[in-house]
Amino acid sequence: MNIFFEIHKDIPREGPGDNASTKKAFQSLEGLPKQPAILDIGCGPGMQTLKLARNTNGKIVALDMHQPFLDRLQQSVNDEKLSHKVEVMKGSMFSLEDYFKESSFDVIWSEGAIFIMGFEHGVNSWFPFVKKGGFIALSELTWLKPKRPKEINDFWAKNYPGMKTVEENLQLVENARYELIDHFTLPESSWWDHYYGPLEKRVAMLREEHKNSDEWQGKLDESLREIEMYRKYSEYYGYVFYIMQKI
Ligand SMILES: C[S@@+](CC[C@H](N)C(=O)[O-])C[C@H]1O[C@@H](n2cnc3c(N)ncnc32)[C@H](O)[C@@H]1O
Repeated sequence: MNIFFEIHKDIPREGPGDNASTKKAFQSLEGLPKQPAILDIGCGPGMQTLKLARNTNGKIVALDMHQPFLDRLQQSVNDEKLSHKVEVMKGSMFSLEDYFKESSFDVIWSEGAIFIMGFEHGVNSWFPFVKKGGFIALSELTWLKPKRPKEINDFWAKNYPGMKTVEENLQLVENARYELIDHFTLPESSWWDHYYGPLEKRVAMLREEHKNSDEWQGKLDESLREIEMYRKYSEYYGYVFYIMQKI
């Protein structure tokens, strides 16, 4: 059993985000065709996939590596009768060329998943799969202040050494030959409502269930520590949506 995925099972989202932010980012994509082709990379359980599907007449391919997330999304797609709009696909963001031709998509969407490749590698390696004039809209863990207390700096230096400031990411967008359309920071509620709040409840439940396992208790401590860091230092970092166009 993979303890990480057990802890993260059955929560609404696998990272910070909310439907209003998904909608806001989607509305900033001007000039899309009537039925855009959209790829949602690292879709997880797919809250944002479903929101996109309700807001477009296009087709969305929802890509992830973790089959239980894909199964959950497929169930929601069936329940909401959205199967004509959403195709769930198991595959890796590292090898889009294995599944898609170049210039296949009007939009590449990715909430809270580009950290797996790193922002720079991600925006560069996904570039060929976006049509000319198409968009990438993604959210990424970002430093909101250039200077921060040692405790939080050390925490993220260990857990996500590639984390950048907004300005650094905007420079990477430009270097990768996109035009920046918009960027905005997600509200703090989008960390708590669908992610850390439900995760905290799950940690409490699993703590009791696995009280005799040091391995479990160690992993649960790690999850709680990340949450505590955000509670203490949320002014210093956040999730930022970056919306860019391939010109
Ligand atoms: C932090 S979660 C975000 C999930 C979802 N977008 C959300 O906001 O709730 C990152 C997702 O990336 C997926 N993932 C990890 N490695 C991947 C890979 N190589 N290719 C595609 N997806 C991957 C994970 O399974 C997970 O669902």
